[in-house]
Amino acid sequence: MLKNDLLLRAARGEAVERAPVWLMRQAGRVLTEYKATRSRAKNFVEFVKSPDLACEVTIQPVDILGVDAAIIFSDILVIPEAMGLPYEMIEAKGPWFPETVKSAGDLQKLHVADPYQLRYVTDAIRMTKKELDGRVPLIGFAGAPWTILSYMVEGSGSKTFSKAKQFLYADPATAHRLLDMITESTIAYLNAQVDAGADLVQVFDSWAGVLGEAQFRTFSLPYLTRIVDALAPRVPVTLFAKDAHYAIGALAGTGCSVIGLDWTMSPSHCREVAPNTTLQGNADPCLLYASEAAIVAGAQAMLSEFGKQRYICNLGHGLYPDLERTKVKLFVDTVKAYPW
Ligand code: CP3
Repeated sequence: MLKNDLLLRAARGEAVERAPVWLMRQAGRVLTEYKATRSRAKNFVEFVKSPDLACEVTIQPVDILGVDAAIIFSDILVIPEAMGLPYEMIEAKGPWFPETVKSAGDLQKLHVADPYQLRYVTDAIRMTKKELDGRVPLIGFAGAPWTILSYMVEGSGSKTFSKAKQFLYADPATAHRLLDMITESTIAYLNAQVDAGADLVQVFDSWAGVLGEAQFRTFSLPYLTRIVDALAPRVPVTLFAKDAHYAIGALAGTGCSVIGLDWTMSPSHCREVAPNTTLQGNADPCLLYASEAAIVAGAQAMLSEFGKQRYICNLGHGLYPDLERTKVKLFVDTVKAYPW
């Protein structure tokens, strides 16, 4: 049914003619078309809740950048909201939660999310699948339980996430109860995304790096494993645990199909540690500030280091908002033209 299924074949470890390429945060960030669509919504939260607008910005990078996959436009913070903790997006600052989780008592106000409350996302997925008409696969996503907990406790972004980490040290039993609720919510939500047509799902553990190995094994890995156990029989699952160098072997051990790598991780080392898992990544987004010649050389060096099979080309984290789209496009075109 898919005209371009490179991403799915690479995720499953099947042979590909070339590496597929898509970019984290490809919707928004660098496209003026995104800003035009966004201005039609009252604010970010309402934008995310508008399936027709979400569908539009999901497809923009496929049309404009020529990437090999679409990722549904939404945010990881829809899960806290569906559990009873609403968020706002403050212009030029980022997410903000008027109320946060401070103690065991605060869990009384929360519930496991009902995917029906998130039907604006599944509606957007259905609409996008129809609109894509099989051109490229559609990626669904959610935040990892630890990363979601960190926003629910912290209430906003943070350099250290020390409030969230304090919560793990001070009240581990409550932390585990909250992680369990987030995990149940996330499994139901990702299953609903797959029901609606998502071809692959990615779990973003963006703040894995603030945990040490022991804390990661206690407060993140068991919950990621539950998500993989629930979803992997249905679609390929990608785990992206940013800055968690120590975790690559453990992530492979979950049975996920793909591990996302940031730019500080060595492709050859990760191949040794996770030989039977597809790797995704891992260009430094700042490479795209370089000269055109340096972008081409950087992309080609990365492709030759990872090799053609069991590889999905991407950045090591999301695009930055001030990158030039011509340079972003050059990166994508370089990957697609690489003479294997
Ligand atoms: O990849 C895509 O283009 C799909 C859409 C997507 C968004 N957020 C839209 C968005 C995805 C996959 C996310 C995931 C997300 N959101 C993560 C995990 C990925 C990562 O970057 O580590 C995290 C941590 C968030 C939380 C979040 N949302 C933050 C910290 C911010 C503010 C800063 C920023 O990234 O711009 C957001 C806002 C947000 N989410 C924007 C977009 C396009 C920008 C808001 C705007 O349009 O003004």
